Amino acid sequence: MIIILIGYMGSGKSHIAKVLSKKLGLKLIDLDKEISRKNKMTITEIFQNKGEIFFRREEKNMLEEILAREVSCILSVGGGTPTYYNNMEIINQNSESFYLQANVATLTQRLLMQKAKRPLIAHIEDEKIPEFIAKHLFERNPFYARAKYVVNTDQKDPQVIVGEIIEQLQSSSPSSFS
Ligand code: S3P
Repeated sequence: MIIILIGYMGSGKSHIAKVLSKKLGLKLIDLDKEISRKNKMTITEIFQNKGEIFFRREEKNMLEEILAREVSCILSVGGGTPTYYNNMEIINQNSESFYLQANVATLTQRLLMQKAKRPLIAHIEDEKIPEFIAKHLFERNPFYARAKYVVNTDQKDPQVIVGEIIEQLQSSSPSSFS
């Protein structure tokens, strides 16, 4: 089984993926890390040196490469991955997709602490971050909403979120867990 976690920057995809992979004993893959490794640059450097269009192509190619090669894993993708090309279709065709939903307040709080590492928001003043997130999330929501499952993550402990993911999978396909 391949489980893909999608959601806005700061929704906790990477951390939840780590906890989930340990709990289910499945291989953990982070799309950004794979792109970074292949290009021998950080994501910020790729945006700066090669531009976002290059990054989006690499992102799509890496997503396809991973899905062609893996049979069972937890894959955490970037916040923008579902919103480019036909990525969301590819994600849903090949995996159990989970949207980790978080509200603007939660995302703002988390992203203000890690702004520098996120090329899309690094240049935005702190006071303008909530408005940027609100608009961006509104634009991206139709893509995120296509995930097969949704889990709200506001004020929840990672263990609780992981428990809810497993519960949703169990109730939709009990045989995968017997
Ligand atoms: C992006 C999110 C980032 C990374 C890149 C672009 C986005 O991943 O892929 O900076 O467009 O939202 P995270 O969601 O893991 O921060």
